[in-house]
Amino acid sequence: MPGYRALLGGALLAGAHAVAVPEPTPVPTRVEAREPLVTPAVRFNGRYSYLNNRRDIFDDIASGAENLVKSLGSVVGQDLPSYFISGIPQYFQDLPTGGQVLSSLGISDGDLDAKPTEVLNIPPYANWTDQGWNVRFHGNVYKQPDISLEKIDDLANIFLIDVDIKDLPPNEQEQARNLTRSIFIVQQGDKNVSMHLEPAPMQGSSGEPGGGNTIEAPGGAQDVNLPYLTTDLGDFDVFVPIQGNGLLAGNETNNVQRMNVYTNGTLTGNATAFLVPPTGLTFISDVDDILRVTKIYDPKEGLLNSFARAFTPWMNMPEIYADWSRTLPNDTHFHYLTTTPEQATRLYMDFIYKTYPGGSFDTRPLNFSDISATLSIRKYLLTKIFETFPQRKFVLVADTSNSDIMTEYPQLAHDYPAQVQCIFLRNTSATDDSNKFPYNTKGFEGLDKQKYMFFRVPDDLRGLDITNGRCLNESIPQNVTFGMQAESLGLKGEGIQARGSAMISFVVAAAVALLVLG
Ligand SMILES: *[C@@H]1O[C@H](CO)[C@@H](O)[C@H](O)[C@H]1NC(C)=O
Ligand SMILES: *[C@@H]1O[C@H](CO)[C@@H](O)[C@H](O)[C@H]1NC(C)=O
Ligand SMILES: *[C@@H]1O[C@H](CO)[C@@H](O)[C@H](O)[C@H]1NC(C)=O
Ligand SMILES: *[C@@H]1O[C@H](CO)[C@@H](O)[C@H](O)[C@H]1NC(C)=O
Ligand SMILES: *[C@@H]1O[C@H](CO)[C@@H](O)[C@H](O)[C@H]1NC(C)=O
Ligand SMILES: *[C@@H]1O[C@H](CO)[C@@H](O)[C@H](O)[C@H]1NC(C)=O
Ligand SMILES: *[C@@H]1O[C@H](CO)[C@@H](O)[C@H](O)[C@H]1NC(C)=O
Ligand SMILES: *[C@@H]1O[C@H](CO)[C@@H](O)[C@H](O)[C@H]1NC(C)=O
Ligand SMILES: *[C@@H]1O[C@H](CO)[C@@H](O)[C@H](O)[C@H]1NC(C)=O
Ligand SMILES: *[C@@H]1O[C@H](CO)[C@@H](O)[C@H](O)[C@H]1NC(C)=O
Ligand SMILES: *[C@@H]1O[C@H](CO)[C@@H](O)[C@H](O)[C@H]1NC(C)=O
Repeated sequence: MPGYRALLGGALLAGAHAVAVPEPTPVPTRVEAREPLVTPAVRFNGRYSYLNNRRDIFDDIASGAENLVKSLGSVVGQDLPSYFISGIPQYFQDLPTGGQVLSSLGISDGDLDAKPTEVLNIPPYANWTDQGWNVRFHGNVYKQPDISLEKIDDLANIFLIDVDIKDLPPNEQEQARNLTRSIFIVQQGDKNVSMHLEPAPMQGSSGEPGGGNTIEAPGGAQDVNLPYLTTDLGDFDVFVPIQGNGLLAGNETNNVQRMNVYTNGTLTGNATAFLVPPTGLTFISDVDDILRVTKIYDPKEGLLNSFARAFTPWMNMPEIYADWSRTLPNDTHFHYLTTTPEQATRLYMDFIYKTYPGGSFDTRPLNFSDISATLSIRKYLLTKIFETFPQRKFVLVADTSNSDIMTEYPQLAHDYPAQVQCIFLRNTSATDDSNKFPYNTKGFEGLDKQKYMFFRVPDDLRGLDITNGRCLNESIPQNVTFGMQAESLGLKGEGIQARGSAMISFVVAAAVALLVLG
């Protein structure tokens, strides 16, 4: 599969394992956010996507463990493809930014002068502090170049596997073009960002308006200037204390207050902010394969589900969330945390607000695009929200097909035992036998068995007494051995664990490949 990088002058060819990204001239910045670490990145080689090219994998297995581990992995010492490790689909790795977009389109910065400035304003959360409400504004400032339809189709085709955009139904073509346009943007550094806040009367037109018992803030209208300019990559991410102006104090209400946030100077930067009281329950939910059908573990399907097809909820999960939102205490807050790169996340937000309770959002900021940062992004975002709400209790929701989640969620329960109320993990392979990826349950060892559950279908989550920490539905068999799980192969826990990690990876990877071949 040719990368869009081939379009960028061939400097960055897919297939090479370590390719240097051209170094932008460093510019000092006053922003809280850091410069991206421009390090030689290890790129996932599409040739080794398990489901695509069976023959190559087979050859590798035949030529031995060393070669296999080398070719499948080398990703910061991990031995599986990075999209498996980080939960970020391969097609969302290494998206182009700024200069790369300009050069791939053959245009210059000046050509963008006349284009309007646009802003991705990611729905913020706020905590209550001595200075009042403290809102975490985060997002990105960019311009969208004019790209001809023909060129957009070429670019979209680079992402699609075995499908030409022209062969998709019209609505899918349109979505694929929209998403491709949202990726080929030019981020704007050194921008001064200001926001206007006002009470949010209601949220979304359908779904569960507002989420739980969130209420319209009774005041708080004001303008806010962010204290820093955007980073070179156009990002902003900063906590700013706002004025009271009639807002309820965090120590005087149990309800989450909603405010509308409008970015000054554009109609594209609207979001809802959630002012979250110090105590209560916060649901942190991944999106792919838990709230919507993605099939991240099946690259071709994952691609179509992300680029072209309308987002579809996973089974009756919206009902479960609506139930939680209606029945749990007023202090309940929903937060959606996806590690999909921010450029691609407008669709995620639209989908969530039409389908699930309203809540704040986190996505992968641009400075986390080098590979080692890719592997740490979830931990970074989770730690940030835990530290922002040290007295809240968290319910963590996701599926077993992301190995970063399988590490981070139980680790949080060990590190913040008083804060993790429940961990709910969809056992993806229980309902989808196209998921062959193994997962590791080792981190769950030593946790209270009432705190977590591997479930099969949304209904398994019904009627649990979450407020009192009864997170296990006793009627769902939990057969967890603490170790690598590759149940479709009959590989479970201790058996393969004893052989050392390189060997496990080899055995599992080889077995997975054989299964796919088989
Ligand atoms: C990205 O920026 C944030 C601040 O917004 C910073 O805390 C973080 O360390 C940066 N990450 C990397 C990988 O540079
Ligand atoms: C594509 O973008 C246009 C303009 O923003 C929007 O009106 C349309 O609904 C989008 N279509 C899809 C399928 O996302
Ligand atoms: C919950 O919030 C609603 C407003 O949405 C309020 O009427 C009700 O009294 C609150 N319940 C409690 C127990 O605070
Ligand atoms: C942004 O612009 C405002 C109004 O011109 C100014 O007061 C503020 O200092 C600027 N902010 C930054 C970070 O430069
Ligand atoms: C809430 O906090 C403010 C100061 O942060 C304090 O003045 C006020 O008395 C507190 N209210 C309650 C009900 O504790
Ligand atoms: C918003 O931008 C307009 C110009 O686009 C400017 O006149 C106004 O002062 C700005 N408001 C704030 C709060 O920065
Ligand atoms: C953002 O809000 C403004 C003011 O209400 C509105 O005119 C505009 O259409 C909104 N933009 C979008 C994309 O909904
Ligand atoms: C509010 O959030 C900030 C940023 O994470 C954190 O440093 C601060 O300790 C939090 N304040 C309180 C009172 O929890
Ligand atoms: C997940 O489901 C599979 C297939 O039903 C089963 O073999 C396995 O034990 C389950 N894993 C866990 C951790 O419950
Ligand atoms: C447990 O799971 C079963 C099967 O999905 C479901 O019918 C039941 O409502 C769930 N909850 C409880 C508390 O048993
Ligand atoms: C649990 O797993 C073990 C080992 O894989 C298996 O022998 C046993 O039958 C399983 N028990 C249940 C209840 O599924």
